[in-house]
Amino acid sequence: MDFKKALELGVSGAGPDTAWLVPLLDAKGADESALMSAADKKRSVTMGDSVHLRGLIEFSNYCRKNCHYCGLRKDNKKVERYRLSKEKILETALKAEKLGYKTLVLQSGEDLQFSREEMSEVIKELKNKTKIAVTLSLGERDEETYRAWRKAGADRYLLRIETTDPEIFKKIHPDSDLEHRKNCLYTLRKLGYQLGSGVMVGLPGQDALSLAKDIVWMHDLGVEMIGIGPFLPHKETPLKDEKGGTLNQALRLIAVLRLVFPYAHMPATTAMGTIDPMGREKALQSGANVMMPNITPTEVRPLYEIYPNKICLDESAEKCFGCVTARIIAIGRTVGTDYGHTKRSDRRQATSEKRKAT
Ligand code: SAM
Ligand code: SF4
Ligand code: FES
Repeated sequence: MDFKKALELGVSGAGPDTAWLVPLLDAKGADESALMSAADKKRSVTMGDSVHLRGLIEFSNYCRKNCHYCGLRKDNKKVERYRLSKEKILETALKAEKLGYKTLVLQSGEDLQFSREEMSEVIKELKNKTKIAVTLSLGERDEETYRAWRKAGADRYLLRIETTDPEIFKKIHPDSDLEHRKNCLYTLRKLGYQLGSGVMVGLPGQDALSLAKDIVWMHDLGVEMIGIGPFLPHKETPLKDEKGGTLNQALRLIAVLRLVFPYAHMPATTAMGTIDPMGREKALQSGANVMMPNITPTEVRPLYEIYPNKICLDESAEKCFGCVTARIIAIGRTVGTDYGHTKRSDRRQATSEKRKAT
């Protein structure tokens, strides 16, 4: 299918189909710019011009897994491991709320020291002491654990599928299984979490068709938040000599995702700010509507090195808050003041729009 026809279908809200997704994901030059402005326009209509801020606390870099791309993998003996105490997590959260954050993301490696019970306590305390929406990004756990955390008050869960291509998934995950990861997402959905997933762009062996299939799968799953970013090779991992993803690959994917998911919350991720100093702004102008400033205590930030050259390693939470606010205003947008929950009425509207278009 030619690009023009594919863009027409995308803008009209047609159901995702690899036949039109691939030409958009492969767009170059003027076509690429047209795709990004169509997505920017769609974002402005569906999500408005405010940018929701999620404060990211990376509270443990211990991990039981060995993902071939990640600097936190268990076999990377060069990284010094840390865990924040429950008290430190709370203190960080209280400080974030004072700064103005309405959402926190608690992220870590798969660290079983933060057991079902321990983590439930952290969530309960957070919900008791703040009004903040709590998002978890703690990897794969069993159903009872996800249930306990939801009961403790967690609102959202982010679990990237990374890729739905069985061969690529297997190659980069020596100790994880694609069907199992999918099942984790189905379980999280069933438990009533606001659900986030996403992929890395530029994985070895991945192409536009593979990304298009990821989009169709995430659409079937019904994700409400989508985090994507370029894969950035880390020197202490088996994928150290791979090329990695580019900013433009990631921007095209965000733009296509915005057309397919008009109401999803999509961050301009730190990985995009790492690959290009203006990467996050470019993402916000290609369909993204969220930013995730790092609020991890500065003393441990450099140790959460999932990929190299991460930005903001020496900055305080206050500095990053001021910095992202200034960046948002500089591109003519505003900082969100709500909790960034999925708008259920918008979801219904999105579904009926889709029906009308088909
Ligand atoms: N352990 C949890 C998990 O894997 O879902 C959450 C933390 S993990 C560090 C968060 C995300 O970092 C992963 O989902 C992956 O997409 C991303 N990531 C890891 N290594 C990366 C790399 N080298 N380049 C880009 N993103 C990476
Ligand atoms: Fe662990 Fe997550 Fe990194 Fe995999 S991506 S090694 S699960 S922190
Ligand atoms: Fe941290 Fe800019 S976001 S200094």
